[in-house]
Amino acid sequence: MSKAAYLSPSLACCPLERLEAHVRELEQLGADLLHVDIMDGDFVANYCLGTEFVPLLHRITRLPLDIHLMVQRPEQKIAYFALAPRDFVTVHAESTPHVHKALAAIRAQGARAGLALNPATPLEACRWVLDDLDLLLIMTINPGFAGQKLVAQTLEKLRSAREMLDAAGSAALLAVDGNVSFENAKTMSQCGADVFVAGTSSLYAKGNDLAQNYEKLRRAIVEGKGGAK
Ligand code: DX5
Ligand code: ZN
Repeated sequence: MSKAAYLSPSLACCPLERLEAHVRELEQLGADLLHVDIMDGDFVANYCLGTEFVPLLHRITRLPLDIHLMVQRPEQKIAYFALAPRDFVTVHAESTPHVHKALAAIRAQGARAGLALNPATPLEACRWVLDDLDLLLIMTINPGFAGQKLVAQTLEKLRSAREMLDAAGSAALLAVDGNVSFENAKTMSQCGADVFVAGTSSLYAKGNDLAQNYEKLRRAIVEGKGGAK
């Protein structure tokens, strides 16, 4: 069982009109990564953020970015992103016949490579690229929109992914994205997730302030790992 826990606030859900001040708050709260959803209106129906958002964030913060590419043929687009060495870039297995090439293109730019699997995509899709991965993202919703309900069977898939990474001796981080609510985060943590993408279901949930939501989410994750903090 992994004890790692990285919180990755989903900036597509944050108050963009005060981005810099908000990122400063996230830094103070101890956020580990900043999740950046990029959508092309093709791989998913929606549009979201864009290439220019990446250098903007790098000017604002030293936190590593967790860039989630929901775009067709990502291997042709990696070069458009000004990446920093500690950034993660995650591509979807369903978005290209050239997954290996896409992962190699990310590492060739000096960044860390991730592969995302939609709910219906078998874990087997990452079997022959395990050595090329720094992160495996199990989508717990169908990508494209915030505020959706958990696809329940992805929890069992998450558990299997943990077993697969451990059995292979892989150091890749296991990430979850989609409906990471306070309740679901605890279960996802029990299932062995390392990286938790925090969107409208937790960090940006209405009612509490940001610090309260952050602490509540952090506690749920620690509890899921059987910790006492
Ligand atoms: C969905 C996005 C997520 C989303 C998750 O495609 O990748 O980052 O913001 O946040 P929730 O599900 O909590 O709204
Ligand atoms: Zn995402």
